[in-house]
Amino acid sequence: MKRFLSVALAIVLILQISVFAVADFTSPNLTKAEWDTLYNSLKDDNTLPMLCVGADETQVSLCWHADKATAKAEVKLADNANMSNPTVYTGETTPAENDEQVVCRVTVDGLKENSTYYYQWYSDNGWSEVCKYETKSFGDHKALVIGDIQIGGQTDSTEVQSQNGYTWNSVLAEALSKNPDAAYMVSPGDNTSTGQTAAEWQTLLMPEALRELPLALAIGNHDKKGMMYNYYTNMPNEYFGKYFEGLDRDFWFRYGDVLYLVFDACSPSAADHMAMAKEAVEANPDAKWRIGVMHQALFGPGYSALDAETMILLNAVFSPIFDSFDVDLVLTGHSHLQGRSHFIYESSVVGKAESGKTYADPRGTVYLNTNAICDQGAFSGSANYMAYNFYDNDVTTYTTLDFTGDTLKIETRRGDNSELLDSLTLKKTKDFKDNGILQKLHRFVYKFVEFLGIVYQKIDNVVVAIRGGHF
Ligand SMILES: [Fe+2]
Repeated sequence: MKRFLSVALAIVLILQISVFAVADFTSPNLTKAEWDTLYNSLKDDNTLPMLCVGADETQVSLCWHADKATAKAEVKLADNANMSNPTVYTGETTPAENDEQVVCRVTVDGLKENSTYYYQWYSDNGWSEVCKYETKSFGDHKALVIGDIQIGGQTDSTEVQSQNGYTWNSVLAEALSKNPDAAYMVSPGDNTSTGQTAAEWQTLLMPEALRELPLALAIGNHDKKGMMYNYYTNMPNEYFGKYFEGLDRDFWFRYGDVLYLVFDACSPSAADHMAMAKEAVEANPDAKWRIGVMHQALFGPGYSALDAETMILLNAVFSPIFDSFDVDLVLTGHSHLQGRSHFIYESSVVGKAESGKTYADPRGTVYLNTNAICDQGAFSGSANYMAYNFYDNDVTTYTTLDFTGDTLKIETRRGDNSELLDSLTLKKTKDFKDNGILQKLHRFVYKFVEFLGIVYQKIDNVVVAIRGGHF
């Protein structure tokens, strides 16, 4: 009996040790002092991994930096916390932004819905701590949207960076505590401030909740001030186009019934953006929803959309894409102001989209602009295409997209206490239809935009070179 008890006790102890070794992200909120401790312990490194959305719901990817001498692009995945009988996924290493490290990128596939997995990546210290990752439903699901995380604010100050990290962690903690079922997070860009330091990405990746929340991050004008996005992300279906240069790229992914078209709006190459949208839409004819993501707001709050670059150039490049592919919702950022438009088609309001209401098979696209994590913009009046404006600019916000059956419920809440600010429900009972002649006419006219986009790109390259980066 004694022997049996001691063996049983040993088994219990081993199990406990293994279970305790698994990171627990159920309470990711931290006090400022706890955050400072975490920040200070991690700030001098750049090896935190990013969990990224996969090409579809059965995949996720990881991306991390490792010492060139010992790096292995390998991830272990198991259905138990002891990591017994794991599947080992091998990816690829590519050069990093420095000579000492490489970037490891691995895609994990074959995931099943509503399942609990455990994973490790091969770090500089061998196999990492064990992280838990719970997949959500592959059909009805919820997505989280947070924009302009912009670690560093408008500067490269470490103090500001730490403060942004704290706010970022707090908003994530609040959003995930109320929405633990969020399957992934989408950001319309400006993930970093200068786009030129590894430290910004390291801070962005510090919240422990990100070990189990896959990210889909668009490129913003601040990211575009450098090349770091290229080394710290692993987005699916990246599209490098015919005319794109440098960091320029779009990407797309599918989750359940939803197709996301994510654009690098800092590139004026209309031909490439249109080609990416066409490729993605043609590969996903059965997707019920089409969501566009880009940084600059075409129909955003304040008068942010009234600057010439957005109003003339970006509107000419992107509106026809959203119109011709019947995109339901476009997520934007840039102005650091929360707001949402009415239904827009051919740059005009074609229907009201009042807060709190449900609209069945509406014509046109809704544009939702996110607030910022780093700092809030200055409000400067509303435009007639806006259905909702959030005027309390000192308060952070987050948005959830809840896809259930044939409805999409879009809810925006305060980032500090989840008070509901704005909601809109879209109901879709019909499939996308080919607009026939109208679509052909759109595409014909768009050839001029594509030509002008290439001309503009050549001019813009010179302007960017002179001013030393994108605005
Ligand atoms: Fe921004």
